[in-house]
Amino acid sequence: MDFLPAVEENERPRVAWAPRLALALGLFLAALVVGLLVGALGEPAPPGQENEVQELGGGTGWAALVIAFVVVPLGWQYTAVPLFRRLGPLAPYRVEVHNWISIAVVALALFHGVELMALGDYRGWLSGWLATLLMLALFVHGWWRAYYRGLWGRRLWRIIHWELAVGALLLSVEHWWLIELSKGG
Ligand code: HEM
Ligand code: HEM
Repeated sequence: MDFLPAVEENERPRVAWAPRLALALGLFLAALVVGLLVGALGEPAPPGQENEVQELGGGTGWAALVIAFVVVPLGWQYTAVPLFRRLGPLAPYRVEVHNWISIAVVALALFHGVELMALGDYRGWLSGWLATLLMLALFVHGWWRAYYRGLWGRRLWRIIHWELAVGALLLSVEHWWLIELSKGG
């Protein structure tokens, strides 16, 4: 079952944990605050039309969805290890690259959801927030990987991370599909 290639653990990050955590949480907070401001100050588009604020909301949703699929092969050792070996100097930062791109996905999703809801557009809010919550759960046990691996064991950690990742992706696709249906597409 454990068919992954053997891999040397990544070097410890050279930057201390406190500024790294502050940067990650700061990105989430900034996405929430800026999204809220842009949405609250923006004008809702007339029915059947789109304005720039609505387009920004839609664009960030698309960016979050596409990048969420990209982070899977970047996290999975089976695909990421050979890729990063080829990238040479980036190899020790394999997990860091996966983590920070995932953090960008969560920040984009937060901006997107808060901006559109502040604009008064509540379509797909449940599927959107459920997907975002699963991503935040991925962040929590992914960021404190050493702690949770100690608690659950390596195998269960991987099963949980995969299940939450697949759940987040399925809910995101379902969310996009609901939006398409709401547009009559
Ligand atoms: C945080 C909660 C979320 C809320 C409240 C929310 C809300 C919305 C709304 C209102 C729209 C319609 C926008 C439009 O077409 O103008 C939309 C579209 C979309 N959302 Fe979300 N969303 C959330 C989370 C997510 C997540 C996590 C993803 C993917 C990772 C996502 C991906 C998309 C995509 C791809 C579209 C279609 C954009 C388009 O067709 O222009 N959303 N969302
Ligand atoms: C948001 C913050 C996230 C953090 C901090 C995080 C952290 C991690 C870490 C530390 C690994 C382990 C890599 C290794 O030991 O080789 C990993 C693997 C992985 N991640 Fe994430 N992750 C996050 C989000 C995501 C998201 C959003 C997805 C997909 C939607 C995802 C999908 C995966 C997959 C598929 C693996 C491979 C698991 C395995 O087979 O070992 N992760 N992640």
